[in-house]
Amino acid sequence: MKTYFVTGGAGFIGSNFVLYMMEKYDDIRIVNVDALTYAGNLENLQSIEGDRRHIFVQADIRDKAKMEELFLAYQPDYVVNFAAESHVDRSIETPEVFADTNVIGTVTLLNVAKAAWEKPDGNFGKRKFLQVGTDEVYGSLPLDEPDTFFREDTPLNPHSPYSASKAAADMFVKAYGDTYGFPVNITRCSNNYGPFQFPEKLIPLMINNALHHKGLPVYGDGLNVRDWLYVEDHCKAIDMVLSQGRLGEVYNIGGHNERPNIFIVKKIIEECAQAVDDIRITEDLITYVEDRKGHDRRYGIAPDKIKADLGWYPETAFEVGIVKTIQWYLENADWVSNVTSGAYQDYYAKMYEGR
Ligand code: NAD
Ligand code: DAU
Repeated sequence: MKTYFVTGGAGFIGSNFVLYMMEKYDDIRIVNVDALTYAGNLENLQSIEGDRRHIFVQADIRDKAKMEELFLAYQPDYVVNFAAESHVDRSIETPEVFADTNVIGTVTLLNVAKAAWEKPDGNFGKRKFLQVGTDEVYGSLPLDEPDTFFREDTPLNPHSPYSASKAAADMFVKAYGDTYGFPVNITRCSNNYGPFQFPEKLIPLMINNALHHKGLPVYGDGLNVRDWLYVEDHCKAIDMVLSQGRLGEVYNIGGHNERPNIFIVKKIIEECAQAVDDIRITEDLITYVEDRKGHDRRYGIAPDKIKADLGWYPETAFEVGIVKTIQWYLENADWVSNVTSGAYQDYYAKMYEGR
């Protein structure tokens, strides 16, 4: 039986990953370590409550003593590091919070895993540390060169404090591989969407605002392009990289599904209006607002390497995924009000006190 040390497993992608793995494998143990910031929510894991294969621990990845204790207690075979501050707009307000969790947190985990896994001969056995990275570390692509994509050898050129912190974390992971022969993989994925995404990100924000006839704030001219991937396809890719990825390699993950933001917003309006049969959900709700500072123009992944090496491909067409996602938010209105109300917001406010 393999033991997976999953960090950030109460967040959006992390909880989808935990559920995906529990569904797919019987003989598995997941130690899910999450600090439960505003973005982490135990309700995401309700469907596996009481399942003995899943152990949830509320802890901060920056807490070295706690991480050491957990490594000793559970002897994990794999680390999958999702834990992070993930929202670009917040990083523009408080970059230091992002440096703390995304960089110091990752280095703390690397240190603890290395100490726990290293054998007297300097080998690490069949262990692996997978860093869940982002395509944002590559910077921005021009709109007028639609055939240019991010590849694994594209130089890192992060613009936002969020992507700078993720690039720094990737570089530490790479350095542990290069210096100590530590067994690592880095994945860099494009924009995810699907169930359990905190409604501060474009797609869930627009769905929930549209359903409540609130304004839909589109940054700048709305022509920025993102490459959208249904979250389950990302989870599947991570599982494949864990089991088959060549050590030390980076794998880009993306859906070849580039869309301008305004297309996404209009599609959501159309699908929401149809789903609830409400003529008040129209394009009149769109408001163009001030652009995000340093707003990257276009992201686009060429997932050729992960396709060729591991046989991964995105299975969920955007038109299918977006309808499933809208349906999920319609059926989980309570989840939305819980995660956006009191306790979680207070926690986040506290994190920033005195910084
Ligand atoms: P999220 O914000 O929904 O979840 C992050 C989780 O990490 C939360 O549960 C939070 O409580 C936890 N966390 C935060 N700080 C922590 C700490 N110090 N210790 C322990 N837990 C902590 O993020 P997400 O969208 O699910 O992203 C997960 C990972 O995937 C991140 O590393 C992100 O950079 C990366 N990623 C996200 C996307 C995307 O589109 N959302 C795309 C590519 C890569
Ligand atoms: O590319 C992967 C990245 O995708 C991940 O690493 C990040 O964790 C994740 O948050 C996401 O980053 P983005 O900045 O691309 O996602 P966001 O949903 O914040 O914004 C998507 C696009 O929509 C972006 O061009 C900004 C725009 N936008 C966003 C919001 C929240 C708006 O126009 N209006 C909005 O209200």
